[in-house]
Amino acid sequence: MFKEYTVEQVVKESRTIKSFYLSPKDGMQVPSYLAGQFVNIKVKPDGSDKELVRSYTLSDKPGATYLRLTVKREEYGKVSAYLHEVITVGGTLLVSDPMGDFHLSVNNQNPLVLISGGVGITPMLSMAEYVFDRQPERQIYFIHSSLNRNVQPMLDRLQYLKTTSNNFKLVIFHSDPLEEELVDIDYDYRGFITQERLPLIGNAEYMVCGPVAFMETVFSFLSEFEIAEDKIHFEFFQSPKTVESKQPIKQGASNGIKVTLVKSQKTLFWQEGAGTLLELVESAGLQPDNSCRMGTCATCQTKLLGGSFQYEPEPFMEPEEGNILICCAIPTSNVEIDL
Ligand SMILES: Cc1cc2nc3c(=O)[nH]c(=O)nc-3n(C[C@H](O)[C@H](O)[C@H](O)COP(=O)(O)OP(=O)(O)OC[C@H]3O[C@@H](n4cnc5c(N)ncnc54)[C@H](O)[C@@H]3O)c2cc1C
Ligand code: FES
Repeated sequence: MFKEYTVEQVVKESRTIKSFYLSPKDGMQVPSYLAGQFVNIKVKPDGSDKELVRSYTLSDKPGATYLRLTVKREEYGKVSAYLHEVITVGGTLLVSDPMGDFHLSVNNQNPLVLISGGVGITPMLSMAEYVFDRQPERQIYFIHSSLNRNVQPMLDRLQYLKTTSNNFKLVIFHSDPLEEELVDIDYDYRGFITQERLPLIGNAEYMVCGPVAFMETVFSFLSEFEIAEDKIHFEFFQSPKTVESKQPIKQGASNGIKVTLVKSQKTLFWQEGAGTLLELVESAGLQPDNSCRMGTCATCQTKLLGGSFQYEPEPFMEPEEGNILICCAIPTSNVEIDL
């Protein structure tokens, strides 16, 4: 369910990133959440014929009197552009309850290795702030990679955590630093993250978030270290297919597995190559709600009224009882869905 929030403050964090501080319009307390979780927001940018839903991580520690979203302006992005260019203090946003499985485990004091690229820093900020505040004895290695100072968010805050806590280790990579940037002040290492700079700690939890290629690289480094897979946690912000899948896949088959869209009173046919149910439905000109397109955000969950399906790929979360995540589902028999 979405609730109205007022935008209390907007802070420019870098050339491409802004933070939005939100409080519930009804004066109620902000919902509780775990460090690393996200919310969905629903907006209707000017010129868009429908409401769009996108996910944004709560980037400050749980327990604050506000929710903070820290959003990168994507070059051709509809919602991030709307937030950056249209939404100002006093504006209203529709915000869901917090959700997501990528969060800090607070029941132990195991060391944390937070590895992020670009705006993938947002869940790490929340986790770092929580640990700094509530688990000061816990060791944190905060490793972040970005292009240069122009796009690096929150460096002052991170340096404050580093100088205030002996347990907070900070390593900043800038792949293409500006000429005036200084080593040890603006960044620690030039270039991309390298394996030898990652700490190898037996009982640590590794949390990783960033662009897909970044995560693949980090995962291969950690695997070579033989870190157990259950100690490595990932959050994907965007499916590798997001841009290409905006193109309809294979249109207008007249036979195959029957997919009945009950509300729209349409019948489509799914064949090998038609992609997921979401892609099939889009190829017929419909625009169901979706955001991550990889089973992370639950935006696309739709009631399954009949038939069977399988997930390909396996989603990162479970939808509500009786629903399926159509961004990851392909039908295995004739199906009816509530669209
Ligand atoms: C769990 C989760 C947490 C997230 N947390 C954050 C967060 O904390 N901060 C954050 O900034 N983001 C976060 N995201 C990503 C966010 O949800 C959006 O995906 C992101 O803001 C882009 O949305 P958009 O509407 O601006 O872009 P869209 O309009 O959805 O476009 C998606 C991408 O396609 C590109 N694109 C679109 N059209 C074209 C075109 N014609 N040609 C070339 N490229 C094109 C855009 O540049 C963009 O990169 C998170 C995502 C998930 C799933
Ligand atoms: S669009 Fe995010 S779970 Fe399907």
